[in-house]
Amino acid sequence: MTSKTILRALAGETQPVPPVWMMRQAGRYLPEYRATREKAGDFLSLCYTPDLAAEVTLQPIRRYGFDAAILFADILLVPQALGADLWFVTGEGPRLSTVTAQSDFDALKPADAIHETLSPVYETIRILSRELPSETTLIGFAGAPWTVATYMIAGRGTPDQGPAHVLREGDPALFDALIARITEATIAYLSAQIDAGAEVVKLFDSWAGSLKGDAFDRYALAPAKRIIAELKARHPGIPVIAFPREAGPAYEGFAKATGADCVALDNSVDAAWAAEHVQKDGCVQGNLDPSLLVTGGDALVAETKRVVDAFSGGPHIFNLGHGITPDADPENVHRMLEAIRG
Ligand code: CP3
Repeated sequence: MTSKTILRALAGETQPVPPVWMMRQAGRYLPEYRATREKAGDFLSLCYTPDLAAEVTLQPIRRYGFDAAILFADILLVPQALGADLWFVTGEGPRLSTVTAQSDFDALKPADAIHETLSPVYETIRILSRELPSETTLIGFAGAPWTVATYMIAGRGTPDQGPAHVLREGDPALFDALIARITEATIAYLSAQIDAGAEVVKLFDSWAGSLKGDAFDRYALAPAKRIIAELKARHPGIPVIAFPREAGPAYEGFAKATGADCVALDNSVDAAWAAEHVQKDGCVQGNLDPSLLVTGGDALVAETKRVVDAFSGGPHIFNLGHGITPDADPENVHRMLEAIRG
């Protein structure tokens, strides 16, 4: 049995103190991140410069000693590797060229062409495999097909994923072809991350909650199932974490239906409910409200302990319910860790 606490939780072990990491743990709330990002010039240069991407991945490990490091990259590198234009507007977020017509889709590259663009990411992973402390688990990741498609179709983030729903209803053949292309690219990308040294991979389906009923099964559940089955066939023993954010009641049974080793819970899910209905099937990750790292105080400590207690009867990886925000106080992360580890 490995001594890495994250891998032990993913294998189903209940531990007296849960292992912990945070979504977006390398980010703008850390002064050392802002300094390295400045050095890189812009966010995408940071993602594609292996030495600097490895450096920002390591920063929160040095500062806090988290049990896992997550590769520094972005889910939108895959659309870029498929041929979309991608840029980030400061203060606003990502912009992409859009895929709304057959001709846009026909201009995309085949899935196996992504490595030309993404090879620096694999180099980042190789550096991290050498430099991480021996007890720290390296997590690779990709966006899930639905979430990636919402950005490719709208060309930006949207509050309700409206353009993607319009295409899904209006031109299901084109929409399905796009989902299939992203699914194939995601398998190729995560498989290459594992070959480079990722020990766990996570699929971020940030907008899964806007899919309901059959659409959830078809576009959140089925692609995750296909990706996980293919990864398990190629890399037996590499655990997969699925994050169908805001899936609500559909969190129940998601791990079994997709083959995921762990589901990550967002902070809209009641921890006591999830312990009963989701953790019964295996490891769960989550789910502290990230706004508590902004506000701090007694509520941060009390809520952290409540999450730890709620999941103490089974395998659990402590995390936030979504990414830490730029206005969070780095000292509050120490308070959270103190409440978890004592
Ligand atoms: O978690 C980590 O520390 C690893 C790195 C990581 C980033 N993005 C770095 C990043 C991961 C795992 C992601 C995932 C990601 N990217 C998601 C899924 C998770 C989620 O948050 O729901 C999504 C939807 C994206 C797309 C994306 N990237 C958006 C919408 C934005 C702009 C919003 C923002 O926070 O500025 C980004 C930029 C981004 N990705 C930043 C970071 C650290 C901020 C960029 C900066 O330094 O200015």
